[in-house]
Amino acid sequence: MRWTDTHCHLNHPDLYAEWQAALFRAQQSGVRRLVVVGYDLGSSQRAVHLTEASDALYATVGIHPHDAAQCDNNALRQLRELAQRPRVVAIGEIGLDFYRDLSPRAAQYEAFHAQMRLAAELALPVVIHCRDAYDELLQVLAEYPAVRGVLHCFSGDAEQAQRGLELGYYLGIGGVVTFKSAEALRSIVRSVPRNRLLLETDAPYLAPHPYRGKRNEPAYLPLIAQQVATLWDISLDALSEQTERNAEALLFTPHETPEKIARP
Ligand code: NI
Repeated sequence: MRWTDTHCHLNHPDLYAEWQAALFRAQQSGVRRLVVVGYDLGSSQRAVHLTEASDALYATVGIHPHDAAQCDNNALRQLRELAQRPRVVAIGEIGLDFYRDLSPRAAQYEAFHAQMRLAAELALPVVIHCRDAYDELLQVLAEYPAVRGVLHCFSGDAEQAQRGLELGYYLGIGGVVTFKSAEALRSIVRSVPRNRLLLETDAPYLAPHPYRGKRNEPAYLPLIAQQVATLWDISLDALSEQTERNAEALLFTPHETPEKIARP
């Protein structure tokens, strides 16, 4: 069976020193492609650097709302440059976080808009981080109708999921779906269109059951897949085929130029 971990952080200090071992273990469990997601300038540079070391690795570049203050013109110039490297597949993770509120909200909005504009300009999809701000976030996404992306580690309610899907976004589903307490998320996953779900680990965070609370790694992706296959009542083989196709469609299909996707 073949899988893609569409969101992991081999570029994070908890994994970076042993990324080769983590990649090996992932490949042993069938994870053939890993998208290494940036969250600030340094981690975005490390993500791009990793893609030069292994053909299994792809990168995204972006500045997380926690570090929104870092997103000045100089940083945006560097992101634009990094984003045009050959194995960069998206801008992210970007978004709004009103749960931890580690950056002032005005700065979060400014960084989010600037990076949505960059994604639109480069015709790249976006990887969205959102905590306790889905209504505000969906309003911003609606302002960029040509941009598509994934609502990473989706934690909104059923109605917010529906609105995200209507805007053309995918739901990123990770270890949380295996937690005992996550019945609301499991019910959303049961009814999500089959062509709109991406599997992800968010390693080193959010390890699935039975590793909850421990360091997560991409090798655990099949535990998440097993839970989704159960919810959809399909075989692991069928899930692999479907989710590989989904990852292909959003992240690994050469992107059209902004002119081509501009609506009449
Ligand atoms: Ni992440």
